[in-house]
Amino acid sequence: MISHQERYDNWAPDYNKDVAARNYDGPDYIVDYLMELADAGKIPVSPDLADFKVLDVACGSGLVGQALQKKGFRHIDGTDLSQGMIAQAHHSGAYQTLMAWIDLNKPLPFFLHGQYDLTVCCGVFALDFVEPKSLSYLAQATKPGGTIIMSTKTTYYDTYDFDGYYKSQVDAGELSLVDCRMNKPYLGSEADGHYWVFTVPAKQENTA
Ligand SMILES: C[S@@+](CC[C@H](N)C(=O)[O-])C[C@H]1O[C@@H](n2cnc3c(N)ncnc32)[C@H](O)[C@@H]1O
Repeated sequence: MISHQERYDNWAPDYNKDVAARNYDGPDYIVDYLMELADAGKIPVSPDLADFKVLDVACGSGLVGQALQKKGFRHIDGTDLSQGMIAQAHHSGAYQTLMAWIDLNKPLPFFLHGQYDLTVCCGVFALDFVEPKSLSYLAQATKPGGTIIMSTKTTYYDTYDFDGYYKSQVDAGELSLVDCRMNKPYLGSEADGHYWVFTVPAKQENTA
């Protein structure tokens, strides 16, 4: 059976054209949602600051990066499992640094830990690409006090226990849920996406 990596390597040259034909709204929706929360002061997001660093995990061909760039974000890095998709992301011109062969089913490489003010992950918690616990790998990349924004496809949410996992992380003090929106535009004409915004709590100094 063909792996997800091979599937996306093969699909990469036609990905943008094909998903546009299927009305893939995820990237624009997630960035608009992000900016709404930022404008409302609910999350600390400063696109105009050159040192405000964004990581787009499983960035694919760069659709999210391009949407972020239009909003003024200046430092966006991207990772993906597929080298073919990373090559497309490179052509998008939206990213500072791109890294292929980064599997979100595994802890992220150590050099990415705690580096990002904002971690974005769109279109990946879908099908069987990743387990809910991959949310903790998004948190690894995020600075204390930073933000994670991500989507889950409704069919993924209905199949996997994403709710149970994120709540366990909240209970453990590893994440806080800032906001979520259910049944919003994602792919095609159906409202088949949920969107989630978390912060990674700043660690308390132990002064005792
Ligand atoms: C539907 S595309 C979404 C791409 C991009 N985020 C977007 O919204 O356009 C899914 C992406 O996830 C990547 N992917 C699939 N499984 C992955 C994994 N285990 N780790 C990292 N990336 C993965 C694929 O290579 C592909 O680029």
